[in-house]
Amino acid sequence: MSRLPTRLIRVAPHQPQPAAIERAAAILRAGGLVAFPTETVYGLGANALDARAVRKIFTAKGRPDWDPLIVHVTGTVMAKTLANRLPPQFPKLARAFWPGPLTLVVEKSACVPDEVTAGRPTVALRMPRHAVARALLASANLPIAAPSANRFGRPSPTRAAHVRDDLDGRVDLILDAGPTEMGVESTVLDLTQTPPAILRPGGVSREKLARILGDVTLAPGVADQRAKAGLSSPGMTLRHYSPRARVELVDSIPLARKRAALLRSRGRRVGVLLGSTDMGRYAHELFDRLRRFDAAGVAVIVCVLPSGKGLGWAVRDRLQRAAGLSK
Ligand code: TXA
Ligand code: MG
Repeated sequence: MSRLPTRLIRVAPHQPQPAAIERAAAILRAGGLVAFPTETVYGLGANALDARAVRKIFTAKGRPDWDPLIVHVTGTVMAKTLANRLPPQFPKLARAFWPGPLTLVVEKSACVPDEVTAGRPTVALRMPRHAVARALLASANLPIAAPSANRFGRPSPTRAAHVRDDLDGRVDLILDAGPTEMGVESTVLDLTQTPPAILRPGGVSREKLARILGDVTLAPGVADQRAKAGLSSPGMTLRHYSPRARVELVDSIPLARKRAALLRSRGRRVGVLLGSTDMGRYAHELFDRLRRFDAAGVAVIVCVLPSGKGLGWAVRDRLQRAAGLSK
């Protein structure tokens, strides 16, 4: 892996320049790594059918090799080539939420390397909505394995600068299309269980899934953030992002203000995340704000925990992880 500074190319988020996309696609075809935007967070991509290329993702991120990757696809036709058998809910869900922030775990086909799935018999598939991700998939005409493009243990990157801060010299190219829209990762839904189980709350809410599925359950680690055993999504067992600062969670803006004032009166450097009644905005800003607090070296981050409705559930989940409640 080269440790020269990584090249970053700016692309228009809605109509990316074909030359930039073609260049990135050529890197993927040659077994290299490209960081690219999706509507959730930036991903660190490699050709999902090339085991050697996929191994580079783990090295670049410092990710443990037992944590499987999401494979990004151009659509259901490509998805079918990677799956053994698609369960009956699959077409309904794909019609309702693809392209978009929903990842579906299904039985894998033989062409998916063990490196991608960490030796599991299942593969996680997602068709992203971002125009740059879609153009890259179409141009490469390959399934792209891509975890979030952060170093292991850091918040997911929602801007190209976050990717560069974490992975400079460890990735061949970064496509910079500005801040990502959603700011939290996709919902991961396991379709190999009956009823389907949410392994990670994310961009598609539980309410919306229930409308299509009727019945949807929560994997143990999601149902109880403090549960330590029996998790079926390996990534959820991890000490995920935890800042150097202590993270304190409170239920309202007045409580956050009061707590921050008290800590400041004791001479502590405090960061405050008040959130927003607009949950889309809270999610959009979340990881950037946490990264900024880390960079500023605050001692305590006081965060308002939103209600668990809609996108608020995913924001709650990420804040609870940052606070170490799921460790
Ligand atoms: O929004 C997103 O999902 C972003 C963008 C780049 O698409 N990707 C992302 O990937 O967040 P990553 O690797 O950071 O998180 C993937 C999650 C992990 O918790 C992993 O354990 C789980 O999906 N996962 C992947 N394959 C799985 C499988 N076969 N079975 C169960 N869980 C799986
Ligand atoms: Mg991640």
